[in-house]
Amino acid sequence: MKINGSIEKYYHYAFPMQTVLVTSNDEKNNTNIITLAWHTPISRNPPLYGISISPKRYSYTLIKKNKEFVINFMPYSEVEAADYCGTHSGKNTDKLCQTGLTLKPSQKLKTPLIKEGYAHLECKLVKTTPIGDHTLFVGEVVAVSAEENAFENHLLRTDLIHPLYYIGQNAYTTLDRVKRKIF
Ligand SMILES: Cc1cc2nc3c(=O)[nH]c(=O)nc-3n(C[C@H](O)[C@H](O)[C@H](O)COP(=O)(O)O)c2cc1C
Repeated sequence: MKINGSIEKYYHYAFPMQTVLVTSNDEKNNTNIITLAWHTPISRNPPLYGISISPKRYSYTLIKKNKEFVINFMPYSEVEAADYCGTHSGKNTDKLCQTGLTLKPSQKLKTPLIKEGYAHLECKLVKTTPIGDHTLFVGEVVAVSAEENAFENHLLRTDLIHPLYYIGQNAYTTLDRVKRKIF
């Protein structure tokens, strides 16, 4: 038997969603962090990544102005920090101070990486498209890096790295089953 749901909350059916922290800088190179569940690869060649951000967010203003951002893939162990960055605005909080997350210079951008992440995509903004109540920011991936042991032949080592997922209602989960490769 199927139960009809609420269209207003349609996106809940897409949970669990891998949850990333996105760094962006202001004009003085102070770094802010936003938690995002709505993000996706869009194109292989050119390498494009999309993030969907509400105009209400401080990060929306920073990325529009500074035209770059870094996607930081986070381990489940940083769940409290990720939740903090997703429930407080950088307009009036220093999320780095409050969470204890630390930064590391990126390869190609002024915007830094979050050291505690296990993989990073450095993106230069190439397109901004308002879609409904969010705006799709499309970034060209100009450099990528990851923890040394996180991937083996491009396969995530889920026995070592437990990625952060959001499942709605302030709840998070992870994926810790050992990978099974289908040949
Ligand atoms: C798990 C989680 C996922 C979120 N995903 C998004 C998202 O995809 N897009 C968005 O605009 N806001 C999203 N948010 C809300 C922002 O992270 C939140 O409003 C944040 O405080 C904005 O920070 P800023 O004002 O410093 O940019 C999410 C929040 C949480 C907790």
